[in-house]
Amino acid sequence: MPCSLIVGGFFGDEGKGKIVSHLAVKDDPVLIARGGVGTNAGHSVLWKGKLYKMRMLPSGFVNQKCRLLVGPGVLVDTAVFLKETAELNAESRVGIDPQCAIIEAQHIERDRGSDYLKKKIATTGTGCGPCNVDRVGRTARLARDVPKLKQYLTDVAFETNTAIKEGKNVIIEGTQGTFLSLFHGTYPYVTSKDVTASSIAADIGVGPKAIDEVIVVFKAYVTRVGGGPLKDEITEEEAVKRGWYEVATVTGRKRRSAPFDFDLAKRSVMLNSATQIALTKLDILFPECKRAKNFGEIPKEAVKFIKKVEDSVKTPVTLLGTGPSVDEIIDRRKILP
Ligand code: GTP
Ligand code: IMP
Ligand code: MG
Repeated sequence: MPCSLIVGGFFGDEGKGKIVSHLAVKDDPVLIARGGVGTNAGHSVLWKGKLYKMRMLPSGFVNQKCRLLVGPGVLVDTAVFLKETAELNAESRVGIDPQCAIIEAQHIERDRGSDYLKKKIATTGTGCGPCNVDRVGRTARLARDVPKLKQYLTDVAFETNTAIKEGKNVIIEGTQGTFLSLFHGTYPYVTSKDVTASSIAADIGVGPKAIDEVIVVFKAYVTRVGGGPLKDEITEEEAVKRGWYEVATVTGRKRRSAPFDFDLAKRSVMLNSATQIALTKLDILFPECKRAKNFGEIPKEAVKFIKKVEDSVKTPVTLLGTGPSVDEIIDRRKILP
């Protein structure tokens, strides 16, 4: 499909990095454009035995032919951007929009120095909230004002819309998760802007009619970092026992966990107008699924769980994560009409 948009269905960390990198390899898009908030994101990509933790550039870097773009709605931390670009040797294929707002040291200080943000909301401390405050106040500097970024500046909306118009495959990568949205999430325990599909598209400058597929990513259980409600939350001890215990990519904090929430999933599908579901960490709930690549290999209980998800959200589960590596996935998009 020419334009697919990927978003998180719960509270972030659903495994979007792994799903996007699989699609980048399989669908061979000409470009991947990242939306979302900024460097508060941490996407893990385990590719050919090496673990990459992306905070700024799109996770689809594994496809060497892809342009890697950052849309004007995304906040850029210059140091993180340059570091990731150098680490990936991606100088010739990264592009950043001149209108991206810049995270400065003072934004990070304000984020970490505020008791409200640090202790009550328990933000990632990456300066994103205070930077978005300045963007709304129209005092933030933009990428076009930073000499070190000059060589990477490009009109991301134009590049992306041109590729879509030419019928080429394009991926739009969201970050965070639906219930961290400033509008639709568990306010005040949310991030500093909306992160549902419509806003992710707007971060790039692509209108809703240009999106062909909206893939919402759910993990087979729910995790959340920082403050805020989490229905049926289990204890850390129980999480360790079940193999659900995780540590956050950006902050190293513990992720809280709970069983899959069918009501939240249903609402997420509604808020994002999802056309497909990706379900990650199936191998953690059902160890027999580990490394499976075909639907026929997975046990009956796992099939039952997938059916239950599909029946409750009325949307097909097309991608199934069966391990952390990019190729540990079942891709059954052929079931789509
Ligand atoms: P955010 O933008 O923060 O939401 O990032 P994300 O959705 O990309 O998730 P993140 O990388 O923070 O956390 C997901 C973790 O699960 C990573 O360690 C992945 O390597 C791992 N992972 C992803 N899919 C699977 C899967 O199907 N099975 C297993 N076992 N691990 C997975
Ligand atoms: P902020 O986005 O750093 O302001 O943090 C606000 C809330 O969103 C906190 O609860 C963070 O833990 C959470 N958050 C922000 N980005 C992510 C993410 O990428 N994954 C998971 N949680 C996130
Ligand atoms: Mg993450």
